[in-house]
Amino acid sequence: MDKNTHWFKDAVFYEVYVRAYQDSNGDGHGDLLGLVEKLDYLQDLGVDCLWLMPIFPSPLLDDGYDVADFRGIHPDFGNLDDFKLLIAEAHKRSIRIITDMVMNHTSDQHPWFQEARKDKNSRYRDYYVWSDTDEKFSEARIIFLDTEKSNWTWDDQAQQFYWHRFYSSQPDLNYDNPEVQQEMLDIMKFWLDMGIDGFRVDAIPYLYEREGTNGENLPETHEYLKQVRAFFDQHAPEGILLSEANQWPEDVRAYFGDGDEMHMAFHFPVMPRIFMALKRQDGTPIRQILERTPPIPMNNQWCTFLRNHDELTLEMVTEEERHWMWEQYAPELRMRLNLGIRRRLAPLLGNNKAKILLANSLLFTLPGSPILYYGDEIGMGDNIWLDDRNGVRTPMQWEDSPNAGFSAAQQTYAPVIAEPPFSYQSVNVASQQADPNSLYHHIKSMIANRKNERVFGWGELVWAQNDRPEQVLAYYRQFADELVLIVNNLSEAAQTTRIELVEGMLTPALIDLLTQQTCTPTSGFVELTLPPYSYLWLKPVQPG
Ligand code: GLC
Repeated sequence: MDKNTHWFKDAVFYEVYVRAYQDSNGDGHGDLLGLVEKLDYLQDLGVDCLWLMPIFPSPLLDDGYDVADFRGIHPDFGNLDDFKLLIAEAHKRSIRIITDMVMNHTSDQHPWFQEARKDKNSRYRDYYVWSDTDEKFSEARIIFLDTEKSNWTWDDQAQQFYWHRFYSSQPDLNYDNPEVQQEMLDIMKFWLDMGIDGFRVDAIPYLYEREGTNGENLPETHEYLKQVRAFFDQHAPEGILLSEANQWPEDVRAYFGDGDEMHMAFHFPVMPRIFMALKRQDGTPIRQILERTPPIPMNNQWCTFLRNHDELTLEMVTEEERHWMWEQYAPELRMRLNLGIRRRLAPLLGNNKAKILLANSLLFTLPGSPILYYGDEIGMGDNIWLDDRNGVRTPMQWEDSPNAGFSAAQQTYAPVIAEPPFSYQSVNVASQQADPNSLYHHIKSMIANRKNERVFGWGELVWAQNDRPEQVLAYYRQFADELVLIVNNLSEAAQTTRIELVEGMLTPALIDLLTQQTCTPTSGFVELTLPPYSYLWLKPVQPG
């Protein structure tokens, strides 16, 4: 298998909100040149690929997911030359760049929609989905439950309703129209030609609408995505398509096709179960969802995450589990949003360092390529009082100087977090870099160790038998004759456990990759005592 076209199999990803990262021109908004300044930091952290949230011109009613021009850069972020520079500078450091591609919809300010609503005979009319009634496709659910009452909105100018799965300012494109299909390919080609390494494809389950269905994961959608992939294989064989399909494992599996559709897909259902397992001190939810996850073709990869720029979605849990998660993790109503929780990783885990690291140990060792959300490597906090999902999109905390070193402006696009315990004076990159025992250094070490072992990107997961199966989640990652045994103590108490060793682990000693401590197996078992919320990444030491 060609290493270059499969770089994503063992890459570590990092999601950047450009507006929050670094402001190079003092206007209070992070920008592309600011991000260029921080590439050394990202390289040093060990990140292989950045996912940039939308950077296109937009009225920003959905923070850029409402695109008004697919071929430009929002002036807050800079211009196309800055973007080219970013790609060149990132590539120099062996960092790849993917951006969001919002295929499902545009902003209502996009010229296509402006033309479409003005003139029934415009060629752009059929770029969108119109109806004289608001009764069609009534089985499609509403996603932004807190704000939207219907997926149809009346347009006075057009004298018809238009279809939208998200905000009413985001009309859905009509993929039954071959011109729309071609436009999207042309747009992707535009960015691929500029050197971009692929796209995180936003909201793909909803491309088509069909009466009598819920309008998700339709066969037509898969057919079109296969065409997109064929285009990639021909035009940009190293480019990737990372699918955002917030669906059950069986349904997400379909987005890989026979290895001829999306390269990667977020594993949405595993994410809330990591939080469930940590709270219940029981790994069963993680084990069950992975057992329910169908195998994927060798040339595909899952993408795992703990948090991202959206609310912590609770779509992929049962009703009962959702309420339990809300009670446990969002006790204040303000913390809840749509079907989720608008909080960051560190506050969710009570700012408990051991727990945060344990969550990261799971992230970095379960099947899939991990993605970090900016700021979570230092345990940044959130601000639930900001609107919508903005509370998890506050400025990156670089140091303890004004505006956290993010910007020289009087006023930043959003307030820097200044309340203890997450204030920028105490939580920032500089202070954590100076402290060898910080979250930052532990996470950096996990990244480095992960990248040394092919088992993580390429290997199978095999459960390890042990006598504390609930509290201790133990598994082998195995690729060819390489083996690593991961042991996570999910409990708040120390646990002593006996783990059965498989063939390749029966060596005189096992070494923990993260601390270099060793332990000695005896007659087919290893007995371990793990402190509360701790983890080991054990590798067999060959004699000599
Ligand atoms: C995706 C994005 C989210 C956005 C939505 C509509 O779910 O992650 O931020 O609001 O799509 O584009």
